[in-house]
Amino acid sequence: ETKKDTQDDKVLVMATNAEFPPYEYHDGDKIVGIDAEIAEAVAEKLGMELKIEDMAFDSIIAAVSGGKADFGAAGMTVNEERKKMVAFTDTYAHASQVIIVKTDSAIAGPDDLEGKKVGVQLGTTGDIYAGDIKDAEVERYNKGFEAVQALSQGKIDAVVIDGQPAKELIADMSDLKILDEAFTEEEYAIIVAKDNTELKDKINEALKELKESGKLDEIIAKYITA
Ligand code: ARG
Repeated sequence: ETKKDTQDDKVLVMATNAEFPPYEYHDGDKIVGIDAEIAEAVAEKLGMELKIEDMAFDSIIAAVSGGKADFGAAGMTVNEERKKMVAFTDTYAHASQVIIVKTDSAIAGPDDLEGKKVGVQLGTTGDIYAGDIKDAEVERYNKGFEAVQALSQGKIDAVVIDGQPAKELIADMSDLKILDEAFTEEEYAIIVAKDNTELKDKINEALKELKESGKLDEIIAKYITA
């Protein structure tokens, strides 16, 4: 049985993977970040109480499609493969996949990744792109930070990961840098079960209000200081 623990229709359950600053991460016992605050604002608009369930990134889609969670908010990139399993709301953020390497690395762009050991977070779009690099050996980690640590330790040659989290994850690591040339551009959206048009419409309405009122920009500005 994969139903959510609570059938309370006042509780809105969000699935996420809180290993992805500034979108979702742990701050003591709390899960905070851009997605957590957007979800909080959405729940408030719906008059419901938000409950956040932290899980492996590659479990989120199944949790949502199986009804264990009402929606997923996890810096989730819209892509066609995922649309077969879940429905996406309107997008709320623009993102990119970047390449992290050692500061003294000869790798200068995506083309140099051929035949290299590339680290990614399991089940992410970075994982998908890395799989397309010719002769690359893809090392999959449960957390983006584990990939970054492996890079710092010289176990792999590069990490492919979302741009904003990349900045946060290497903030304290002077031996690593992000390449200027981004790998791809993407958009983030919230996911709901395919047949849950009602919730999708409600979230879209809430997102629209958050965009129009400037609240979304406010939330983003709180976590991303350019
Ligand atoms: N944007 C990427 C994707 O959709 C990575 C998202 C990872 N998110 C997370 N909360 N760990 O695959």
